[in-house]
Amino acid sequence: MDRDSRIFVAGHRGLVGGAITRALRNAGYENLLLRDRAELDLSNPEAANTFFHENQPSHVFLAAAKVGGVHAKRSKPAEFIEENLRIQNSVISAAHRHGAEKLLFLGSSCIYPNFIEQPIEEHSLLTGPLEETNQWYAIAKIAGIKMIQAYRKQYGFSGISAIPSNLYGPGDNFDLETSGVLPALIRRFHEAKVTGAPEVVVWGSGKPMREFLHVDDLADACLHLMRNYDEDDIINLGCGEDISITELASLIGNIVGFEGRIVNDTSMPDGPPRRLLDIDRMAALGWCAKITLTEGIKATYQWYIETNRTEGEPNGTRTHIEKVPPTRGKISDLSGILNRTAAWRADGLRIGFANGCFDILHPGHISLFHQAQAACDRLVVGLNSDISVKHLKGPGRPVNDEKSRATLLAALGDVDAVVVFVEDTPLELIEAIRPDVLVKGADYSGKTVVGADFVQANGGTVLLARLEEGHSTTNTIKRLTSG
Ligand SMILES: NC(=O)c1ccc[n+]([C@@H]2O[C@H](COP(=O)([O-])OP(=O)(O)OC[C@H]3O[C@@H](n4cnc5c(N)ncnc54)[C@H](OP(=O)(O)O)[C@@H]3O)[C@@H](O)[C@H]2O)c1
Repeated sequence: MDRDSRIFVAGHRGLVGGAITRALRNAGYENLLLRDRAELDLSNPEAANTFFHENQPSHVFLAAAKVGGVHAKRSKPAEFIEENLRIQNSVISAAHRHGAEKLLFLGSSCIYPNFIEQPIEEHSLLTGPLEETNQWYAIAKIAGIKMIQAYRKQYGFSGISAIPSNLYGPGDNFDLETSGVLPALIRRFHEAKVTGAPEVVVWGSGKPMREFLHVDDLADACLHLMRNYDEDDIINLGCGEDISITELASLIGNIVGFEGRIVNDTSMPDGPPRRLLDIDRMAALGWCAKITLTEGIKATYQWYIETNRTEGEPNGTRTHIEKVPPTRGKISDLSGILNRTAAWRADGLRIGFANGCFDILHPGHISLFHQAQAACDRLVVGLNSDISVKHLKGPGRPVNDEKSRATLLAALGDVDAVVVFVEDTPLELIEAIRPDVLVKGADYSGKTVVGADFVQANGGTVLLARLEEGHSTTNTIKRLTSG
């Protein structure tokens, strides 16, 4: 893998894919191919095949998967086995078919048999029964490892498989329905601290021993393997130490600053008594983990607080923790938008631009955004400021102020960024953003679209989006105000 390699990080918005993407960028790899699930559903073999055909990735980090904690795995066994089989089959097969030089597949320590000698050596795979809740996920992962080995045997394909222990870090999933034990404990201790709850309940006896690897260490290990390892054998990735759930809870409680009691709910299952990976193979390749558990949990807690903080509130004072709202980060000023569009462009993404007052959102707008999104990779919406709407439409407008209008736009799945502009037309904004696709409703003609000449002169296109009949802001306002 060299600086010019075309590197596909599948699942780049996930915990692992995000960390691998950061590590690649930090190491100077710029030619990254990144697609989220809405753009490329990897469980669809045809979509995966077309993507590989069109983009010819040379190196693939396969970090897209259906992942979850005990609760999720117990309640959705069919989804865990089927989606993982689909994703890995599509990607491995397309990578081979389109000549990828190398692919790294990720298994998980839970694919090893339930009761097994510790630390777990790689040759223990398939030597005993699997843990019941995990078996569906584990069978899919084992099938992925075997598929890679079969492709190497039959086609000489350079696929490698790594088996990470439990991972944690910035970007982790803190949804209590689906998260793993470490982020769930961070969230429960934090919520108990801010609500003044006297106790935190920890599932199970607290006796099981578990190993945790920081995801930035994992990403570093994945790059190390991609550069230095090309063999059939699976390879464990861990930190080499484990900790009981009771010790983990107490460590997290101290870091968070929770002063109440920790109580065990022994009606909840414990899972396997111990799960520590033998990391001799990785050590022999010259790699070891660097981030201690205490440092890693502190950084993860910090990230959790920052990501869940409401603007204006100091860290850690919220009484109710919500998931990150879908609007967060989408609304920016011009310099923020230019930073984002530069990063998207560097990733090879096509940028679309639409603009308007969007006083009252109606299905015509939704359809326009949808058509716009289909014609580009990232859609920026320029929103007329309150002053400019008043100037253009009269003193009774806008119906909703610019903050409300921006918030509604940013909540739409088809909109990737929103920027408010004060001028009457978005020309300056268009010249700054330099969109690849300029979108306007088909009631305009190519000649009357502001910025069309500029965009076309710079190699871009103008899309006149089909109108939805029967929807208009002016008519809606007339209806509302006609008595
Ligand atoms: N987390 C751990 O503790 C752990 C431990 C050992 C091994 N691993 C392995 O590491 C890999 C990544 O795990 P993770 O923790 O990073 O999971 P994650 O945070 O849930 O990320 C998974 C990523 O896969 C994407 N994805 C899922 N289905 C997809 C589809 N059909 N098409 C395209 N993308 C899809 C998701 O996209 P959306 O965001 O759109 O859903 C998400 O970005 C998995 O193979 C897992 O087995 C994880």
